[in-house]
Amino acid sequence: MSGAERHVLILGGTTEARHLAAGLAADPALRVTSSLAGRVARPRLPAGEVRIGGFGGPEGLARWLREQQVDALIDATHPFAGTISFNAARAAAAAHVPLLAVRRPGWVAGPGDDWHPVGSLAEAADALPALGERVFLTTGRMGLAAFAHLEDMWFLTRSVDAPEPPVPPRMEVLLDRGPFTVEGERDLLRDHRIDVLVTKDSGAAATSAKLAAAREAGIPVVVVRRPPAPDGVPVVPGPEEAVAWLKSL
Ligand SMILES: NC(=O)c1ccc[n+]([C@@H]2O[C@H](COP(=O)([O-])OP(=O)(O)OC[C@H]3O[C@@H](n4cnc5c(N)ncnc54)[C@H](OP(=O)(O)O)[C@@H]3O)[C@@H](O)[C@H]2O)c1
Repeated sequence: MSGAERHVLILGGTTEARHLAAGLAADPALRVTSSLAGRVARPRLPAGEVRIGGFGGPEGLARWLREQQVDALIDATHPFAGTISFNAARAAAAAHVPLLAVRRPGWVAGPGDDWHPVGSLAEAADALPALGERVFLTTGRMGLAAFAHLEDMWFLTRSVDAPEPPVPPRMEVLLDRGPFTVEGERDLLRDHRIDVLVTKDSGAAATSAKLAAAREAGIPVVVVRRPPAPDGVPVVPGPEEAVAWLKSL
């Protein structure tokens, strides 16, 4: 690294993080490293340098920031990745590195939507029996244990990698990753006779088509609200604003 380079660490695992890395990696004045947790077997790799695996808590991340002489930290992780965002806040404070969070806005219900907001996957499971019998579960492969006791309900789950037990006994798995189209989602709901959808409020454009398809079909949607994010960390909605923040430092 030349003396003029500034080192930016992006905590990634999202489309936004990949777009941000692509935008920044073209700048010769920057050294860009993206960090992935390693949850996905074959991740889409961002531009620039990539490191994979946990840091070992906030202390490990703070050590990495110091050792790798990171000048700016951008937390562009998924809104439901609650732990790493708090770790980033603590590590950035300890290592005196400026921190920004990139958080896409959440989805907003519109006319015709029948949404049922809940606080957790466990609450989503509690809400299901009153809403339907055939569930399209799009909350990812982690956390399916929360639904494992619903033995009378049928589930279609969709995730990038296969889920591991415990899972609901009556379940079909669809291995796929977005972006998805309204047409495709419409077919999926019809072909599997889905009568209730479960989603996290990820806010992602790539996965919002299911909401439009559910609205069209008059299907209720259980929406898991986002976990809390750390206080005091500046937040921007997307990669463009993150680039502007970096320039302002
Ligand atoms: N949760 C979701 O619904 C979801 C959806 C799509 C993508 N993702 C992506 O998948 C990753 C893991 O999500 P999660 O919900 O398991 O996170 P989490 O609960 O917030 O983090 C758990 C631990 O995983 C490690 N970790 C998480 N993100 C990391 C990253 N970008 N680089 C290095 N280590 C990371 C950290 O380990 P150490 O403490 O050892 O550092 C962290 O303490 C995130 O990067 C996120 O952007 C999550």
